[in-house]
Amino acid sequence: MKKVLCLAASVLMMVSLVACTSKTDELVMATNAEFPPYEYHQGDKIVGIDVEICQAIADEMGRKLVIEDMGFDSIITSVYTGKADLGVAGLTITEDRLKNINFSTPYAKATQVIIVSEDSDIKSPDDLVGKTIGVQTGTTGDVYAADIEKVKLERYNKGFEAVQALTQGKIDAVIIDNEPAKVYVSQNDELKIVDEAFTEEEYAIAVAKENDELLNEVNSAIAKLKESGKLDEIVNKYISADN
Ligand code: ARG
Repeated sequence: MKKVLCLAASVLMMVSLVACTSKTDELVMATNAEFPPYEYHQGDKIVGIDVEICQAIADEMGRKLVIEDMGFDSIITSVYTGKADLGVAGLTITEDRLKNINFSTPYAKATQVIIVSEDSDIKSPDDLVGKTIGVQTGTTGDVYAADIEKVKLERYNKGFEAVQALTQGKIDAVIIDNEPAKVYVSQNDELKIVDEAFTEEEYAIAVAKENDELLNEVNSAIAKLKESGKLDEIVNKYISADN
């Protein structure tokens, strides 16, 4: 009897071990690959600063990185519901988001900027009153734009679509993060970034609230990446100091 029990116990243990490893084998990153230089499509691959940071974190944890590309406004939900382990998408830390998920220590600083056409009369955020503004749905740019007096807000699935609408004269300005703004403006001679930035922000990685163990692992991986200079190396690969 003892033997049988013992066998049963060890079978159970093995089963749970297998179940455990297959679950923790992968590190699922929820992102929206419409945000150069942080995450974007290159041929059939998704590349960028966030992808390399998350790859380095996965390496550190001995897990295989799996990228789930989705609509920006689904990222927090997928982390919250446990469909993805991490939300890595140039995500700005906000009080509102902290109600549903936790954020890692920040890994980058950013600002919201205004893109306009070269001949625009918009010279500062104050000039946005009453204008038609394009944003990517669910971003902090969306939140700020919605607060502007008498604004007509146009929401797009991708930041790039907002920029396209601007070049087509359909809207007056786009509010978007500074680095993607630089990328889009560099691809179009008729566009410029308004000198005065909108807000200061910090990017961090989203983790489910109850998952403190994962949060700690991510934080210690980020600390290591900062210390070793690897984080700077990744950033410098995608962002040149002079642009
Ligand atoms: N930083 C902004 C935010 O958190 C925009 C991020 C957009 N990221 C993306 N992968 N599309 O709302």
